[in-house]
Amino acid sequence: MKKLLKIALTLMLVTGCSKQTINETNDDKPVIGIVQLVEHTSLNIIKDAILDQLDTLGYKDSENCVIKFVNAQGDVANLPTIMQNLKAENVDVVVAITTPVAQAALSLSSETPIIFSAISDPVGANVVKALDDTSDNVTGTSDPVKVKQIIDLALTIDPEAKTVGYIYNAGEDNSVSNLKILQEYALEKGLTVETATISVSSELQTASSVIANKVDFIFVPTDNTVAEAMAILASEGIKANIPVYVGADSMVMDGGLATVGIDYSDLGIETANMVDKVLKGTLISDIPVETFDSNLSIYINKNTLESLGITLPESIANDPKLIEIGE
Ligand code: TRP
Repeated sequence: MKKLLKIALTLMLVTGCSKQTINETNDDKPVIGIVQLVEHTSLNIIKDAILDQLDTLGYKDSENCVIKFVNAQGDVANLPTIMQNLKAENVDVVVAITTPVAQAALSLSSETPIIFSAISDPVGANVVKALDDTSDNVTGTSDPVKVKQIIDLALTIDPEAKTVGYIYNAGEDNSVSNLKILQEYALEKGLTVETATISVSSELQTASSVIANKVDFIFVPTDNTVAEAMAILASEGIKANIPVYVGADSMVMDGGLATVGIDYSDLGIETANMVDKVLKGTLISDIPVETFDSNLSIYINKNTLESLGITLPESIANDPKLIEIGE
């Protein structure tokens, strides 16, 4: 069946949330592909929010739609194959969670709409030409790291800090973009930046113990490779008595000291809303990229704070945006 007709027919089903009738086959249901790069707390939160919101919007897997969920288990080299498999399954839309997944999904975008989820810098990663240009059949939700606010937070807690350590996977364009922002801001603030790169999460322990000796605090962006082993970095920080500031709330949940950032459930919900729009016929070119940079909270891990023996300055302790995690 022609794709549009197929989508139109199924939409009547979806909109009515009605069950499949006897002569409907799998063939008539929209197929939603969702690809997650790896297992870590934030990506799990995003994936769950997408699935919950799709359910709320009336999409019931195998009743009136087919949801093909794939976790790439961190294997970037396998992403092209995953994309080709989804193509063979005639997906109607692909949700690409993380920068590396979205970059791999571009191979399908001439035929299949791509909705990315949680890309820190979609332009820097060459996923869209500009935030207001979604003419290449690619749109989605962006989660820029609040680098300046996070560094300001670190300097409010320790005004004497002179050196910041940045650990990242140089293969993740999202982390390369954030390093540039950090370097510019550090210059302005008179901070020296020390970097350490890892290519797999098993290298994080060594990288963090080496860098901890050289810096006053560590800052890691929303790097997927770091996030995967965040608990290890958190304990290395405590061992060396060095605060670890992070790019996302989930990394505070996993033991990092603090961040300034968004609630990723909101981002997941909006990603699902975009899927719904596309399946109901809205063109990707009419759906702008949505950047999540308001509704920010300060997330602090109380246990880590205590282990490091830090007392929060009044200005932070009394901030209405403060969310304490732990205990
Ligand atoms: N922003 C990351 C990217 O561009 C993905 C991501 C979302 C992430 N939340 C995170 C990475 C939390 C690490 C930690 O790929």
